[in-house]
Amino acid sequence: MKAVTYSEYGPPSVLHVEEVEKPIPKDDEVLVRVMAAEVTKSDIEMRRFRFAVKWFWLPMRLAFGVRRPRRRILGGYFSGIVESVGSKVTGLGKGDQVFGSAGMRFGAYGEYLALPMSYLIVDKPVNMSFEDAAAVPLGGLNALHFLRLANIQPGDKVLINGAGGSIGAYGIQIAKCMGADVTAVDSKIKESFVRRMGADHFIDYTKDDFTTSGQTYDVIFDMVPDSAYSACINILKPNGRYLSGNPRLSVMIRSIFTTRFTDKTARVAFAGETREELSTLKAMIENGEITSILDRVYPMDQAADAHRRVETEQRVGAVVMRIGDTGDA
Ligand SMILES: NC(=O)c1ccc[n+]([C@@H]2O[C@H](COP(=O)([O-])OP(=O)(O)OC[C@H]3O[C@@H](n4cnc5c(N)ncnc54)[C@H](OP(=O)(O)O)[C@@H]3O)[C@@H](O)[C@H]2O)c1
Repeated sequence: MKAVTYSEYGPPSVLHVEEVEKPIPKDDEVLVRVMAAEVTKSDIEMRRFRFAVKWFWLPMRLAFGVRRPRRRILGGYFSGIVESVGSKVTGLGKGDQVFGSAGMRFGAYGEYLALPMSYLIVDKPVNMSFEDAAAVPLGGLNALHFLRLANIQPGDKVLINGAGGSIGAYGIQIAKCMGADVTAVDSKIKESFVRRMGADHFIDYTKDDFTTSGQTYDVIFDMVPDSAYSACINILKPNGRYLSGNPRLSVMIRSIFTTRFTDKTARVAFAGETREELSTLKAMIENGEITSILDRVYPMDQAADAHRRVETEQRVGAVVMRIGDTGDA
């Protein structure tokens, strides 16, 4: 089968399409013919081996290869068609159209992906293309997980920092479904995109600092790794909730004190990825409550360009790779 591979950490040019062995599913595994994979910030971080959260470096390097990557095929989030299932697999069968997460196993940049049935593989929303569906799990799962923790009530003022990215785009839509009044913070080029996702207000972080605007919020959902923790806590209303997707050590420690000694709550966490959450997202998509907006779709042999597009943050919407299409046609 064809796959986009890398055999050294580095710039986008380390990515190449090559023939690799097709995986053979074990008894408890599902073999998916991948149709599309989202190109995510995590793929970029793994390729160049630089992380927004610095302490990730050592444990990740030990786990994923000290001198060169042990897992040579990136891609954590996919859509596709079940090709075959092992003898112990129940609930999925050949021909099912699915979407899901390969988690830290990666591998979705290859034409076939074998995953244990315990992994997140759920029926694809019927009203979505494979490309659109591949863009759902990362952003949707993280946004749903964190915003449920925020216990949003109708009318709550919610600020999403980094709202124009993969997670933020779903965060806006899900917060709106929960009845929130949403302020999106990102750079100017993302304004029309985040408004299309449902944002009520927009702040361009390159011009204005939301922490000094005089506005206060019930919830701040923060995707920006180096944002000012105290300044965010200060503009929360009484009983306000701060949620961060970037588990920096300093913020993890300070969040314990905020939660214990003030009337505000701070949560800094890794999002779990559950079948219930992905099934909820599927239902929300089929009900027309949330959707994907794609920036560009790239064939496999333009994987390096797809990575550049994500890395330079010029995208407005998700960047997706069509798998199995090397652009020769
Ligand atoms: N906790 C977890 O389980 C988990 C899981 C996945 C990801 N994450 C983390 O969550 C973060 C967001 O992920 P993502 O995939 O949504 O990233 P993303 O798609 O790159 O989105 C980040 C957005 O933030 C914007 N931004 C950058 N600097 C900003 C600033 N100072 N103020 C406001 N906006 C700013 C970026 O736009 P511009 O650069 O164009 O301005 C971009 O639109 C990442 O740091 C990622 O590592 C956490």
